[in-house]
Amino acid sequence: MKILGISGSLREASHNRRLLQVAATELPEGATFELYAGLGDIPPYLEEEEGETPPESVAALRATVGAADAVLLATPEYNGSIPGQLKNALDWASRPFPDNSLRGKPVAVIGASTGLFGAVWAQAELRKVLTTIGAKVVDAELPVGQAHDAFTEDDRLADPDLHKALAQIVAQLVEAAIASAGA
Ligand code: FNR
Repeated sequence: MKILGISGSLREASHNRRLLQVAATELPEGATFELYAGLGDIPPYLEEEEGETPPESVAALRATVGAADAVLLATPEYNGSIPGQLKNALDWASRPFPDNSLRGKPVAVIGASTGLFGAVWAQAELRKVLTTIGAKVVDAELPVGQAHDAFTEDDRLADPDLHKALAQIVAQLVEAAIASAGA
């Protein structure tokens, strides 16, 4: 089983990327985890380029999403919503509609912010966007607030309840992927 991790942040020291790496430690044996690294290469969405020969980075994104059994997205919150670069990539991934690479794909959303609320608005927005695209969205959220203090050196969440909740979301995503493969 292949799980693709997508961080909405381009930052080298991104807390959301770290959160995905922590999530990956909770995957069951036999599941592989790939961290998508191409978000910064995706050009602004342009409908004229959406047809047979989209930009190489967009084709690669669609292929990578298509090859994954499930996708775990970690988003920061920018001004109460998701970062523009993440929305832009999802707009590209949503086409052609309705037969896009995310359609029916099990996805889960988690998020971290340096504020108190753990990017809950951004996570809600991201679930809405993914539902609109046609993905199978796990009904759960993980609010990692004060992200600069949220991680331990051995790659866990410092709050044991939050770490347990993260492990539960990963388990739900894996279950959804197994159900989807058997459907
Ligand atoms: C933020 N940040 C932020 N945090 C929050 O909780 N709510 C918000 O609305 C915003 N808005 C916002 C806008 C912009 C433009 C930036 C750059 C930042 C803070 C944000 O949560 C923090 O920078 C995170 O650390 C970003 O995630 P990464 O890059 O660490 O993954």
